[in-house]
Formats: sequence, structure tokens, C-alpha cells
Amino acid sequence: MDTEYVQRVGALVLGVVTLCVTFTRAYIRKHTRCEDNSRLDGKTVLITGASSGIGRAVAVECVSRGARVVLACRDVTKTMFVMATIRRAVPGADIHFLLLDLASLDSVRACADAFIGRFGQLNVLVNNAAYLGPKRTTSDGFDYTFQVNFLGYFLLTSLLCRALAPKPSRPLRVVNMASHSYADGRLEDLEDLSEDSPRGTSRPYQQYRTYAASKLAVVMYTAQLALRQGPSVIAVAVHPGAVHTSLLRHYSGAVGRALRVAAAILFRTPEAGAQSVVHCVVVSDHVLRPWTGAYFTDCCPQPVAPPARDRAAAERLWLRCSALCRLPDK
Ligand SMILES: NC(=O)c1ccc[n+]([C@@H]2O[C@H](COP(=O)([O-])OP(=O)(O)OC[C@H]3O[C@@H](n4cnc5c(N)ncnc54)[C@H](OP(=O)(O)O)[C@@H]3O)[C@@H](O)[C@H]2O)c1
Repeated sequence: MDTEYVQRVGALVLGVVTLCVTFTRAYIRKHTRCEDNSRLDGKTVLITGASSGIGRAVAVECVSRGARVVLACRDVTKTMFVMATIRRAVPGADIHFLLLDLASLDSVRACADAFIGRFGQLNVLVNNAAYLGPKRTTSDGFDYTFQVNFLGYFLLTSLLCRALAPKPSRPLRVVNMASHSYADGRLEDLEDLSEDSPRGTSRPYQQYRTYAASKLAVVMYTAQLALRQGPSVIAVAVHPGAVHTSLLRHYSGAVGRALRVAAAILFRTPEAGAQSVVHCVVVSDHVLRPWTGAYFTDCCPQPVAPPARDRAAAERLWLRCSALCRLPDK
């Protein structure tokens, strides 16, 4: 084959690939910025998993707007480093650390107790931490993804709500990190995962499928929380878009490797990914209240896919989780 022809084909292929990457990147990175410049002076915001990624970006934004921000994280050294960086960037930052390992329900209880003892007031809880990776089991005997991404949120929120007794006049705002992957989650997987014995061996474990099921649980739980707590709580679930963070670091196999490369090239920055969360943290109660229980993306409420609308399944999930966490039902 003549070399000139090969070179032309090569250049054409390269051109097409570059064009596709550029358009895909622009599409994924296009996002809505939070236009609300409200300050958060006098408010206390608790963020789980704020030692990196979106949680860290949300913490920076909240501290900059004058909030007292509490980072509930499991890695002390990493979080101390993040706090020092934030303090350098925002002089006078009111920022604190609490130890929280969502893979231990005792740690969740200790974190809730420590928060109540030290701060006594909470305006916004951002349930942000998550795990996406191979099968692991927590010290409580549950699937790791299920517990870190959902059961831990459930217990922490329940304990704080019970202790702080929010009222319609000063509601607790709960922002739960969901993901668009919830739409791929299956209710059967959820029921499997909420069993206290290790997951049945009949189906092979799939990292993404388990993650999606945990996020479906988050979306369903958010709607139930809004329904059960009424005007005392304003609860929303948020999808941040596809964001380049350390979330994929545990994702094993070829899919994991491919996704990490794609994320580095195509995905949004954590600051861009934080925009919808910041929007849901800062907008007034008056604006957000009509959307309690909803799922937000790009700073707007969106309708949810059919499995997430199954009220009976959401009710069963709530009762099951209350039992798993040994909480008396309310
Ligand atoms: N990135 C995306 O494209 C994307 C898309 C949709 C939804 N989300 C959601 O956005 C949220 C933030 O994720 P991210 O992308 O910012 O990822 P990230 O940078 O990996 O942040 C996850 C955080 O969760 C913490 N965490 C993990 N296991 C924990 C445990 N057992 N106890 C306490 N904290 C734990 C991590 O702490 P360590 O640093 O100690 O591990 C880290 O601070 C997650 O809920 C994720 O599902 C992300």
C-alpha cells in the first residue's frame, strides 16, 4: 500500500477521533453553575467524605460563604491536610473534623454523638461519601457498597434528626449524593444487599450494578425521608454529573482502567460537579421546600425513573434499614 495513502487515512482517523473526544468532552463538561450567591453565616453544615473530590469542593464553597463546616471523614491525615489547605485559601475558615467510617455502624453512632455534643446545631447535612469497587464486607456483616453509600447515610441522618428534633420553622436540610446510575439499579439487588448475611452466591458480584442499586436506594430513601419527616426536613438527592475524582480508584478490571482514563480526559472538575450540591445547600427554604424529596441535576429538579417511584418498595426499604440499624420505627 502506498505510504501517502496510509498517512492520509491515519490523519483522517486522528481528526475524527479528536473531533469526537472534543465534542464528548464539551458535552460532559457543560454544566449549570449555581447562580445563588447567598451567604451561610451562622449556619452549620456537616459533610461526609469531604477529604476529596466533590465533598471537598462543597466544603470550600460553604466555608467561603461563612458557614461553620464539619468534615466527617475516616482518614485523619488526609482530612487534616485538606483543612490546612482550606484555611490557607479562606482566612478565618470555621472548619472542623469528626471521625467517621461509614463501614462501621458504631463509628456512625459515635460520630452522631460527637457532633451533637460538640456542635448541638445542624442546618445542612450533606451525605456525600461513597465507595465503588470490588466486593467487600463491613465489620457489621453487610455489603460494603450498600453500607457506605446508603445504610450509613440512613443511620447518620436518623440519629441526627432524632437528637436535634428539627422543626418546620427551622428545618434540617439533607442533601444526599445520588448518581444517574440509580436508573440502572434493580430493586431485587437492593433486597439482596439489605440482607444481613453476605450476599447470595447465585449471582456473580458486579461492582457497577451494586453501586447503582445503592444509589437507587438513596433516591428512594430521599423521597421517603421527605414524606415521613414532613416540613421539619427538606431532603433532596443530587446527581453531580460525571466528575473526575478518586471515586473510580477501586474499580477493578479493564472497565475500571478504561473509566479512569476516560474520566481524566472527559469528566468535569470537582468544582463543576459541586455546583448542584451547592445550589441545594444555599437556596432558601422557601425555594427548595416545594421540591423536598426530589432528585436534582444541573441545579434543577428532574423526574425519576419508574423503579425509584415504587412507594411500597421504598417503605419496605425504610423498615428493613430501621431494623438493620436497630432503630425503633417512627
Ligand atoms: N465522580 C462522579 O462522576 C460521580 C457521579 C455521580 C455521583 N457521584 C457521587 O458523588 C459523591 C462524592 O464522590 P466523589 O466523586 O467526590 O469521589 P471521591 O473523591 O472518591 O470521594 C468519596 C469520599 O467518600 C469517602 N469514603 C469512602 N469510603 C468511606 C467510608 N467507609 N467512610 C467514610 N468516608 C468514606 C472517601 O474517603 P477516603 O478518601 O478516605 O477514601 C472520600 O472522601 C459520591 O456519593 C459519589 O457516588 C460521583
